[in-house]
Amino acid sequence: MLKKLAPSILDADFTCLRCEIKAIENGGADLIHLDIMDGHFVPNISFGPNIVRSIRSKTSLPLDVHLMVENPINHIDSFIKAGGDIITVHYETCLHLDRVIQTIRDRGVKCGIALNPATPLNVIEYIINKIDLLLLMTVNPGYGGQKFIPEMFNKITRAKEIINSHKKSIELEIDGGINLENLSQVINAGADIVVAGQTIFRSTKPEEIIKRMKAIIRESVKIN
Ligand code: DX5
Ligand code: ZN
Repeated sequence: MLKKLAPSILDADFTCLRCEIKAIENGGADLIHLDIMDGHFVPNISFGPNIVRSIRSKTSLPLDVHLMVENPINHIDSFIKAGGDIITVHYETCLHLDRVIQTIRDRGVKCGIALNPATPLNVIEYIINKIDLLLLMTVNPGYGGQKFIPEMFNKITRAKEIINSHKKSIELEIDGGINLENLSQVINAGADIVVAGQTIFRSTKPEEIIKRMKAIIRESVKIN
């Protein structure tokens, strides 16, 4: 499977989103990760469908919507209408997970399930054949710029084994605390999509960092 880089714009310069999108495109990123936070499921508040719509009008890259919100079923349609291509909801926010997955699939977009660091992998047993993407949080969700939780390397490896034992192709996305130092280890553990926020947008040259991260991903794939 093609390994992908998904810059998260959470810590981008929102006064110049157009420049940030250009940097993402020129750097060769594969998709744009959009962190939606409601101040309830996670302590932070980020942005809503209007921003997603503006971004949609400026790029043709796939938009990877990560919903960190309570009752995500109430927001699915507005983020799809705004231009989301992948809608990922947290297992921890869904009392009726199967119904939420069905709702996303019925709309014809890709469906992802996200797991917090402390949530075990066995919770996906009965829904794994219905999803397109599994997102493992490698920090506690809510903020950019946190430290990667080292125990998550084993979780990535185990998640990849579980995915490989199923027929359906499911992308494994890793989100939180990824930098130039741990990127190849995350790829080697089994990541298909790597999210990176502050590593890219707290640098003075986001485009260059994206190129470097893409090069590291290519190199890691070659070695394996
Ligand atoms: C955390 C978000 C992440 C985060 C990534 O709640 O889901 O996407 O913004 O940012 P970094 O790479 O800075 O950890
Ligand atoms: Zn995210």
